[in-house]
Amino acid sequence: MKLTVQTTTLRRAKADAVAIFITADSSIFKHQILEIGKHLGDRIDRIVELENFKGKEGEIVTLLTDKRLSTPRIFLVGLGESKNHSLERYRRAAAIAAKKAMAASVRHLGVLLPSISGDSHGFSATPSELAYTLAEGVLLSLYKYDKYFTEKKKQNVVELRFIVSGKNIHKDVAKVLSRARIVCEATRLARDLENAPANEIYPETLAAAAKSSGEKYGFRVTIWDKNRIEQTGFGGLLAVSSGSDRPPRFVILEHNAGRNDLDTIVLVGKGVTFDAGGISIKPASGMSEMKMDMSGGAAVIGTMEAATRLGLPVHLVGLIPSTENLLGGSAMKPGDVIIHYGGKTSEVDNTDAEGRLILADALAYAGKFKPKAVIDLATLTGACVVALGHHATGMMGNDKELMAQLKKSGETTYERVWELPMYDEYEKQIKSDIADVKNVGGRWGGAITAALFLKKFIENYKWAHLDIAGTAILEEDLPYTPKGGSGVGVRLLIDFLTNWR
Ligand code: BES
Ligand code: ZN
Ligand code: ZN
Repeated sequence: MKLTVQTTTLRRAKADAVAIFITADSSIFKHQILEIGKHLGDRIDRIVELENFKGKEGEIVTLLTDKRLSTPRIFLVGLGESKNHSLERYRRAAAIAAKKAMAASVRHLGVLLPSISGDSHGFSATPSELAYTLAEGVLLSLYKYDKYFTEKKKQNVVELRFIVSGKNIHKDVAKVLSRARIVCEATRLARDLENAPANEIYPETLAAAAKSSGEKYGFRVTIWDKNRIEQTGFGGLLAVSSGSDRPPRFVILEHNAGRNDLDTIVLVGKGVTFDAGGISIKPASGMSEMKMDMSGGAAVIGTMEAATRLGLPVHLVGLIPSTENLLGGSAMKPGDVIIHYGGKTSEVDNTDAEGRLILADALAYAGKFKPKAVIDLATLTGACVVALGHHATGMMGNDKELMAQLKKSGETTYERVWELPMYDEYEKQIKSDIADVKNVGGRWGGAITAALFLKKFIENYKWAHLDIAGTAILEEDLPYTPKGGSGVGVRLLIDFLTNWR
């Protein structure tokens, strides 16, 4: 989709439809309708009345125009009352306009960029912030995973055109649109990898996907095969993969490799391409969702791609331990003891708690890079979904400031994170009689005991753990995210990295 800017008026705006955002407060509403009425005459009053359009959040109505305007139709898109306005409101309103445009076979969608400079209720945004957010709403909401349909629905909307009022705004908006495209394309890549079935995306092909993005955009990708993984002593990754015929991979991605002048940040993503649970097998119902158990890895690949394309001034390292978790004849068994990279040991009490076993190796290895911060992303626990549902990522870690920065980026991008406690008292739940730590901590506080397991393998660095089990795998559509893989983490981390230091 093309993203363009046009300095013009509503009257002259050329597009197959122009979306205008309408506020529900009655005084503002009346004023806005009056202004549009100047171009349309009193027909607008009748339509607004007949359609019972009030400018509430989620409402949309189509106005057919006449020769006075260049565009044949206008979408009035409700934003709700101004006291509730936020960037997220605009993101969602843009998504509604985009879906309407799709349904109405609009090819060139115009958006009248509103100007809001600190309204009385305190919400304010610059034109470029607004345009960026609106572009996100459009680009993310029109995503569809249709690779395996033999008959695909056509993508009608080929251009999103921002209608702005001045030259200065024009320049600012044009600048942020290329950024929006890059970040949304990276999010869509992460979604594609998540939604792909496990007979397409398995460790070798996940690694190949990282490689092909790296070749296209210029970040370094190193792929370890099973031999190298054995030689290096990644006992957790080997144990989990032992039940599978497909070999594991360990993928190292690097943006700005060798730049000693830049801060190093390591991202670690869980790359389990299918989680059947292993010998501690999962119930059949819903098991297919576990093709998305590599969502952490997908987020790392997407983030790396966007960070490279944006030229972010950090030395960014991505680590993805990737394997299936199946139950072949040589599968690991409950009671097994694993020796991880770095020498610490763990007892496998439940083979379905496999994510932490492979992350343990990668987190211990992350110390080698002398990072300023390490952030891991993992669809780690069902317990996190029980605690927070699908609207917040669970966050734990050892550094308040790092977590505060992630929290802030979560609010900005609306990929919100919520801290869960890592009190020492929970630790006795993962004490083992035979090894340094046990891989499950019983029924209660499962997201926390999983994080405490990871903490055992953290070297001397600042660390945040993001449990994305609920936010990466959606059972229902969200306003600009269809059900399935959400691509969560990419927008969050790009915002975080952009604001680093
Ligand atoms: N991949 C799952 C966690 C998961 C569950 C992600 C639901 C997304 C949706 C993970 O490997 C797992 O199976 N965890 C177990 C841990 C338990 C055995 C301690 C869980 O959460 O049930
Ligand atoms: Zn599992
Ligand atoms: Zn898993």
